[in-house]
Amino acid sequence: MNLKELVGIEAAKYVKDGMIVGLGTGSTAYYLVKELGRRVNEEGLKITGVVTSSKTEEQAKELGIPLKAIDDVESVDLTIDGADEISDDFQGIKGGGAALLFEKVVATYSKDCMWIVDESKMVNKLGKFPLPVEVVPFGSHNVFRLFESRGYTPTWRMNDANEYLLTDGGHYIIDLHLDTIEDPHALAEELDACVGVVEHGLFIDMISRVIVGTPEGPKILE
Ligand code: 5RP
Repeated sequence: MNLKELVGIEAAKYVKDGMIVGLGTGSTAYYLVKELGRRVNEEGLKITGVVTSSKTEEQAKELGIPLKAIDDVESVDLTIDGADEISDDFQGIKGGGAALLFEKVVATYSKDCMWIVDESKMVNKLGKFPLPVEVVPFGSHNVFRLFESRGYTPTWRMNDANEYLLTDGGHYIIDLHLDTIEDPHALAEELDACVGVVEHGLFIDMISRVIVGTPEGPKILE
């Protein structure tokens, strides 16, 4: 069993009957959703899923997991998602899979959030992983130039056809190559204040638990 599968299965144990569960996006969350689908079908687990992307929606529907839209629930009991980098103090970068906006919306309306990662994602300082910034297409080249002027080394996220990648929300993504983020709180505030930025991949003070996959087994950090 690979480490992503290990943490996906471990995280599914936190899901109990009757819960509204935020279903993350990515290759690690895939295993969580797969395991929840198994429990729904084989054990009669009763949950309602709230998806964070069209990709996860497709998987959850195929597995027969009952779903509701985020707007049709007042809150989510527990959201379980992957992450691209996590620092020791539980701040994170997400959005490698381009779902950061919907992931952050679902996390924001969740009572509890946890991340599942393999051990390669745990870092001392955030920033080696390019920081995704989701932008409105209108005026986005000026936002790009603004990031260049600030020394953030931006690049456009492209799709397989080498066109601008369009997110589920119909936006573009600019990745910032920062190497090290000294003050994630300050950078998050700065990006929040940029007109044309819809959301960024800095997830600050949003989670209570991380399950890290290691060759010795899953490690729970709280
Ligand atoms: C998608 C995300 C993913 O959770 C993140 O990229 C981790 O993905 P993976 O589990 O495939 O490494 O934020 O927008």
